[in-house]
Amino acid sequence: SMIVRSASPVKQGILRRGFASESVPDRKVVILGAAGGIGQPLSLLMKLNPLVSSLSLYDIANTPGVAADVGHINTRSQVSGYMGDDDLGKALEGADLVIIPAGVPRKPGMTRDDLFNINAGIVKNLSIAIAKYCPQALVNMISNPVNSTVPIAAEIFKKAGTYDEKKLFGVTTLDVVRARTFYAGKSDVNVAEVNVPVVGGHAGITILPLFSQASPQANLSDDLIRALTKRTQDGGTEVVEAKAGKGSATLSMAYAGALFADACLKGLNGVPNVVECSFVQSTITELPFFASKVRLGKNGVEEVLDLGPLSDFEKEGLEALKAELKSSIEKGIKFANQ
Ligand code: NAD
Ligand code: LMR
Repeated sequence: SMIVRSASPVKQGILRRGFASESVPDRKVVILGAAGGIGQPLSLLMKLNPLVSSLSLYDIANTPGVAADVGHINTRSQVSGYMGDDDLGKALEGADLVIIPAGVPRKPGMTRDDLFNINAGIVKNLSIAIAKYCPQALVNMISNPVNSTVPIAAEIFKKAGTYDEKKLFGVTTLDVVRARTFYAGKSDVNVAEVNVPVVGGHAGITILPLFSQASPQANLSDDLIRALTKRTQDGGTEVVEAKAGKGSATLSMAYAGALFADACLKGLNGVPNVVECSFVQSTITELPFFASKVRLGKNGVEEVLDLGPLSDFEKEGLEALKAELKSSIEKGIKFANQ
């Protein structure tokens, strides 16, 4: 119709998807650490997302170049770049969603926990600023160790009186992306259709893929499931070793981060039945934070879904991960309160 043709390219896309009578709400997305290995491709992918109206790119260095570059892409969002502490408030003001890939990545031989000493302080300071400038925003935490950085952010928000457990997410989507890829690689199922829940946390054995719940189900042997579980748990290390000192996953992480951010935006916009795995405040185990399937809605977490039926192998994995996950969570809480 005339109306469709005279609309902006973005609105046309939305109309074709069948939301003709609803307008697309304005959404401001902020990326903290936007000039980094993850931050740059994530900035690109978020610039391509038609749900974003304002894209705010913040880093301690190099953001003007990234913002100028990404800003020339002819999609909906207006891009602004911010650099340094004095600009952090402006970068965050009015945010609906803040994505945090700020911090140092691993080198070969390191665990994610080895990043704690540097990244805990970065996440603490960024969380203080979020509490001050955009306390109502959803927060997607990518910075490692996620098992500790999410509890740090929660404690900082509590101290500021702004904590809403529905709005804080540890991004574990890369574990799901990997589990899907590796599972499809050993089955004759279509990789584009595979889904696999991954629960627990985001480091080593705390990463627990539930291949017994994979869909479509390929009925792989126990040995193969064991091998796929190990490969998913070691997926980050596989990339760290292949990059040989040049960092960790950035491109697949940007993809995963963009997927999760898109799900959060859809939830905010009222799209029904948006479910993704994420590391959130939780009561489905005795641990205060746990990754599992989460239904996303207008206020962030709408429902934390329980684990569903586990195989004996998965039950063992669940018990085995609790001690490490508990101590990583407590380490974060202690840091934030010292
Ligand atoms: P990188 O070093 O390439 O980029 C990090 C960026 O953060 C840099 O541009 C740096 O300037 C910026 N930065 C540092 N301090 C900052 C601050 N106070 N405020 C804003 N920006 C700041 O690292 P990367 O490869 O992009 O990885 C970033 C983090 O993401 C690491 O901690 C890494 O372990 C983590 N990571 C998590 C996952 C996951 O699945 N959750 C996956 C991959 C990487
Ligand atoms: C990953 O899973 O790729 C990230 O957590 C980065 C890392 O250190 O492995």
